[in-house]
Amino acid sequence: MKFQPYLAPSIQRMGHEPCNPFRLGSTPRCSEIDGMSVSSLVEEYGSPLFVFSETTLRDRYREAHRAFTRRYPDVQFAWSYKTNYLNAICRVFHQEGAIAEVVSEFEYDKARQNGIPGHDIIFNGPGKGREILERAADEEAMIQVDNLDELLLLGEIAAQRGRTQPIAIALRVHLDTGTHAVWSKFGFNADNGEALRVIRRVLQMPGLKLQGFHAHIGTFILDPEAYRKSATVLVQLALEAERLGSEPIRYLNMGGGFASRSRLHYQYLSPEQVTPSFDRYAEAICDTITQAWPAGRPLPKLYLETGRALVDEAGYLISTVVAVKRRPTSSSLPGVLAAYGKAAPAQGSVHETDRPALVIDAGVNLLYTTTWYQHSILPAKACVDLPAPTTVYGCLCMNIDVIREETPLPSLTTGDQVVLHPVGAYNITQSMQFITYRPAVVMIGLDHKVHIIRRRENLSYVQQLEKTPPHLAAKPAPRKSDASSHPLKSEPFVYVIDPRSGEVQEPSLLATAFNGGARR
Ligand SMILES: Cc1ncc(COP(=O)(O)O)c(C=O)c1O
Repeated sequence: MKFQPYLAPSIQRMGHEPCNPFRLGSTPRCSEIDGMSVSSLVEEYGSPLFVFSETTLRDRYREAHRAFTRRYPDVQFAWSYKTNYLNAICRVFHQEGAIAEVVSEFEYDKARQNGIPGHDIIFNGPGKGREILERAADEEAMIQVDNLDELLLLGEIAAQRGRTQPIAIALRVHLDTGTHAVWSKFGFNADNGEALRVIRRVLQMPGLKLQGFHAHIGTFILDPEAYRKSATVLVQLALEAERLGSEPIRYLNMGGGFASRSRLHYQYLSPEQVTPSFDRYAEAICDTITQAWPAGRPLPKLYLETGRALVDEAGYLISTVVAVKRRPTSSSLPGVLAAYGKAAPAQGSVHETDRPALVIDAGVNLLYTTTWYQHSILPAKACVDLPAPTTVYGCLCMNIDVIREETPLPSLTTGDQVVLHPVGAYNITQSMQFITYRPAVVMIGLDHKVHIIRRRENLSYVQQLEKTPPHLAAKPAPRKSDASSHPLKSEPFVYVIDPRSGEVQEPSLLATAFNGGARR
């Protein structure tokens, strides 16, 4: 009897090509952004292109602001610069009434340059540095102290400068809300008594004045109940600080973290079903503080540093298909993608098929958030054929440059445009100049005009901080085999070096330099 080799049982993924998840005949597309045609935007500003909608920025801000001010008497939003610090974006939020939340000297400088006075800057971050802390203290910024070293440094600054006014600070804390991993890197532990010990210490430091408490519990928090826990803890800390002898606590800062309408990897339901409204976050926070705060006393000011929920939906990335491929979906491929966190690890063997794949002219260097989120990708043109699961690769020379492991797309061809959304949060600020020039960013204004808010990079911008040491100035002489075919044959190239700066100027011909410009 002839035995067959043993094959381990496996689960096969069903091909879903015949099914149209968008229902027959209605393949969705994105041909316009705020009334501007995608193709005309690319014609004018090139591809890829980031596009922001001023209308959406303002709408989202107003929606959030309304949700909180309806429920609480004293609310102040602070725009989280790191989420997107293009000046035009910051200024939209500042015009709407937001102050600034910054985490570094660079962001502090930017906020000041955007016209925000020091006392309207919330200064966060675990590594602030002496120089900028001194400036922030002098300018009366709201310093949110992250760690003991920073606290001691502030005490030293206050003492050395013989300040008449103590430096006003808030203590940042972290806590377990029971809904997601604790961000224990930041602030003092509010669960194990550390925060209370630090309060006692602050109260003994004459140069410092405790004014508030801050907790940023994480980002993309899908469960508003997490904020009930953190609001409760902040109120408890404030009341305890007062009991221990602090002046009345002026504010509670709930940080950011509200989810945008993006979709996490492995998130089954759509953002429309999953992302809580601003009202739900506001209800959790405002109700908790109002109920926990002693009756008859004015409520503390409430600061919010929400970032992604205000800006994500306002941002689009237009990109162009540069190559069309087919990709075998064998068991080894999900393994590669799983290493990057974008696909479940393959269990056993997977049905071997071919899948359409596209290469687009934008890579993960522009879309850092593809690590966590599945951005929607829609064609700009009308398509009649059924969408099929398609892999979308970026244009970088790296295997991990996968924008979407699988997304339903109709068949597209080279030169077709696609629109990725929402991409307004963290992609601009975390983008890398890698291999390619970073693209232009435009904003479609309330005036229905397109405004460039960041120009496309070019070679001189990318190289502007580089220096070439003099001994590397000469261009390599043409190799022998090239020399004979070179039109200038034996005339060697040299760089001209500025003797004062040591900088290398445009290359010129040795002969030109020697003969005062006259070529033989
Ligand atoms: C201290 C602080 N505040 C606010 C934010 C903004 O968070 P989000 O974009 O999740 O609202 C962050 C981002 O991580 C942060 O670290």
